[in-house]
Amino acid sequence: MQIRFGMGLARRIQRQLLGASTDDFSGDKARTYELVRTRHPNWDAEQAVYETLVSGFADRSVVLDVPFGSGRFADVYNRKHMSVIGIDSSPDMLAEAVRLRVEATREFDLRVGDARRLPVDDASVDVVVCCRFLAGIVSFGDARKVLAEFRRVTRSAAIIDLAIRNADLPSLRYPPRRRAPMNEKLDRTQLDRLLAEAGFGIESIHPTFAKPDGMRVAAVCVPLSR
Ligand SMILES: C[S@@+](CC[C@H](N)C(=O)[O-])C[C@H]1O[C@@H](n2cnc3c(N)ncnc32)[C@H](O)[C@@H]1O
Repeated sequence: MQIRFGMGLARRIQRQLLGASTDDFSGDKARTYELVRTRHPNWDAEQAVYETLVSGFADRSVVLDVPFGSGRFADVYNRKHMSVIGIDSSPDMLAEAVRLRVEATREFDLRVGDARRLPVDDASVDVVVCCRFLAGIVSFGDARKVLAEFRRVTRSAAIIDLAIRNADLPSLRYPPRRRAPMNEKLDRTQLDRLLAEAGFGIESIHPTFAKPDGMRVAAVCVPLSR
């Protein structure tokens, strides 16, 4: 396992480059990340769906997990002998992943970086895994940038956590304001459109848990032109 950049430098880069659109997962928020979340049944439901989907990819695939967070999928990657690049803007979250999973992350390439400007070559990974990011904390404008980056780097697929607005609610205008958060704002047609604009089509949809205004899903997205 290797974490690029010293933690102090990385933290300064995080603050200066990522700016206000990025939630601050540092300090106590990083140290208690799983302690707080694993108590909730949504965590297990989501974990089971992602593990099943990741298991469906070939052994020894190259995986990019972004944001890597606490490294919750490390065991399934190892069972599949996958080569793992984990990217997160928070050095504290990467440190927490290593603290919780020192053995499991030993061979991983962990990097501090921004999902909107991935430090990864074009078409260099088989599958991108993205959980708890584009469905909630990210603005619509940033989601566009992140999806374009996923399309640039993946050769075959991306498993992306998305929120689909309930069909019985009125649809909101598309595109939303650039700064509008993604959570439960887009209906299925609008999500298809957003993904198509980035060069992806949805191959399959896997519900994880319900929110008041919508359903959280893991979407298996494939490049439109392969
Ligand atoms: C809710 S956590 C999700 C972590 C993990 N994927 C999971 O499912 O538990 C959100 C993560 O996004 C990271 N993050 C926020 N903005 C980011 C950005 N622009 N680029 C990369 N990571 C970012 C945070 O540091 C945090 O680890």
